[in-house]
Amino acid sequence: MTDLLKIRGGKPLEGKIKAAGAKNAMTKLLVASLLSDKKCTFYNVPDIGDVEITVNLCREIGSEIAWDRKAGVLEIVTRELKTSYVPQRYSGSNRIPILMIGALLGRTDEDIIVPTLGGDLLGMRPVDLHIHALQKLGAKIEYRNMKKEGAYFAQAHQGLDGAVIQLNYPSVGATENTVLAAVRARGTTVIKNAAIEPEIVDLILFLQKLGANIMVDADRTICIQQMTRTFEVEHTVLTDRNEVASYAMAAISTKGRVFIEGAEHLQMIAFLNKIREIGGGFHVAKNGIEFFYDKELKGGVHIETDVHPGFMTDWQQPFVVLLTQAKGASVIHETVYENRFGYASTLKEMGADIELFTQCLGNKSCRFASQSHHHSLVIKGPCTLKGSQIVIPDLRAGFSYVMAALLAPEESIISHVDYLDRGYEDLTGKLSSLGADITRVPLPKKHLEKAKASLHNMVAAQSKEPCAPNY
Ligand code: EPZ
Repeated sequence: MTDLLKIRGGKPLEGKIKAAGAKNAMTKLLVASLLSDKKCTFYNVPDIGDVEITVNLCREIGSEIAWDRKAGVLEIVTRELKTSYVPQRYSGSNRIPILMIGALLGRTDEDIIVPTLGGDLLGMRPVDLHIHALQKLGAKIEYRNMKKEGAYFAQAHQGLDGAVIQLNYPSVGATENTVLAAVRARGTTVIKNAAIEPEIVDLILFLQKLGANIMVDADRTICIQQMTRTFEVEHTVLTDRNEVASYAMAAISTKGRVFIEGAEHLQMIAFLNKIREIGGGFHVAKNGIEFFYDKELKGGVHIETDVHPGFMTDWQQPFVVLLTQAKGASVIHETVYENRFGYASTLKEMGADIELFTQCLGNKSCRFASQSHHHSLVIKGPCTLKGSQIVIPDLRAGFSYVMAALLAPEESIISHVDYLDRGYEDLTGKLSSLGADITRVPLPKKHLEKAKASLHNMVAAQSKEPCAPNY
């Protein structure tokens, strides 16, 4: 909570930026590298907080790491594990420690201990699918309550055995954890109803270079054979489709024009369809995608967030801000997380016309149909947004606030910028280069307590409903 962003909006974003490597790929690739004692070299590594946290965590486990942040190149080698105990300070820091179980089960016979805050301030964030899948492979896992918090204790003293695993829901993390463990399990593992997000495919590409044999079928089946030999790996991290979509929406909503070098068409199909539906402009070029304001934006769209290849839940928040600039009413049905509209109240204070619903407003009922969570919304536009004092509760909500501030002519002051640092490389630099009036200043002490209290209240209100993601 160290810095503030000051943004005075009302200017179109114009120019060119380069997309960073994907946060949700790079962090997992680092964990995957722990499976082997060979050197792995990564290119296009994003210089963001979540990579830094994962790098520090891997160092604690025994990895030697050289990271040239400017060049985006990172070398990691884990010749020996120093420990299989994830230090307590990483618990709740992000979703990565739980993936250590899968990777370390494949590397060591020792007990693996992963502390967790359990139900943290922003919700419970269940990992039941991870645990059941790893148990199916023969791991012994139990949750023990300790003094301040609990921890998962996991071991496979006799090694793991391949199995057929049916996931109840195609969870990204559970699929990754299972794949990581399965590459070292004897025989063959089949994961049915697996997640097939591009970041998971990137992980599979890396593991194939490392020595694994993995097959992905079109029907969400992933088939993994035991890896018996490992090789040195060179791997270029795929582009961050969340970052690309974020800047795309900021460009169109501010009536600007931004070329995003490295943006990959294949990852953006569902997103580009919706951009075209509302009248936004884009042009897919040889080395990236240009996004621009083409004509009056029209609402009237229906968006249902979904697992890949559907419309990503992480695109939903900035898309709502984009829809504040479109004429007509649109409907968003969030089907991945039951509680991901916490940011809407701040947007309403800034002038957005948003109404929340507990029903499934869509063609299909989702997992949350019989629950009381607000997981559908109706947004009416166009509306004029006004500047505000904003506290960021999580990463994607944070970017949607930045976008709203870029649309408001008055100054907005945004605190808890560290959430943005975790997922957006050089946000202030990139937005400034596109012409935004944005400055980053240290948080004055007198504001610190106020910001903390306000965040605490927001979080306490949200935590009444479980599972709101904070990363
Ligand atoms: C990943 O989270 C991403 N995080 C998220 O990105 C992304 O929103 C999400 O996938 C969906 O695409 C990382 O990769 C670090 P899930 P993950 O397991 O793996 C429920 C961002 O902003 N569930 O697919 O945690 C869960 O509660 C972030 O970059 C269970 O019920 O997502 C949720 O409702 C936010 N039991 C749904 O599944 C489990 O054991 C999707 O979660 C696991 C998950």
